[in-house]
Amino acid sequence: RSILLINGPNLNLLGTREPHIYGHATLEDIAAAATTQAKSLGATLVAFQSNHEGAIVDRIHEARENIDAIVINPGAYTHTSVAIRDALLGVDIPFIELHLSNPHTREPFRHVSYLSDKAASVICGMGAHGYTAAVEFAANHLKIKDT
Ligand code: DQA
Repeated sequence: RSILLINGPNLNLLGTREPHIYGHATLEDIAAAATTQAKSLGATLVAFQSNHEGAIVDRIHEARENIDAIVINPGAYTHTSVAIRDALLGVDIPFIELHLSNPHTREPFRHVSYLSDKAASVICGMGAHGYTAAVEFAANHLKIKDT
């Protein structure tokens, strides 16, 4: 299985960004651990981060070539992006929506997700452990398309 891990805007600042909410692990730490974990489960993982909505849309389109499952922390685009929703639906690759924090305990504008109703699963509020849970699920349990 081939897994694409996408992290959206501001997640490149992990480690120093509001650590009381998002923890102390850097994105590099998280991506490295996810890559190693996927390998140990017999899967491959490619990590991608961008602060730009269009770049995320482009990366999702490219995933049609060789990706079975997408794990995505869309950051603030969770709450705004019809374009990322449409890209995920357009490529028809199953995806897991992931958040470090639990957006439902935060400001009301974070209670809405443009992705959740189409996600295979939604993980939130586990901090960096959410990535471990998502990779394990994507590698071992997620129903993927027959090829
Ligand atoms: C986030 C939650 C979003 O509301 C926020 O905009 C982020 C990070 C999380 O991982 O908890 O950038 O997706």
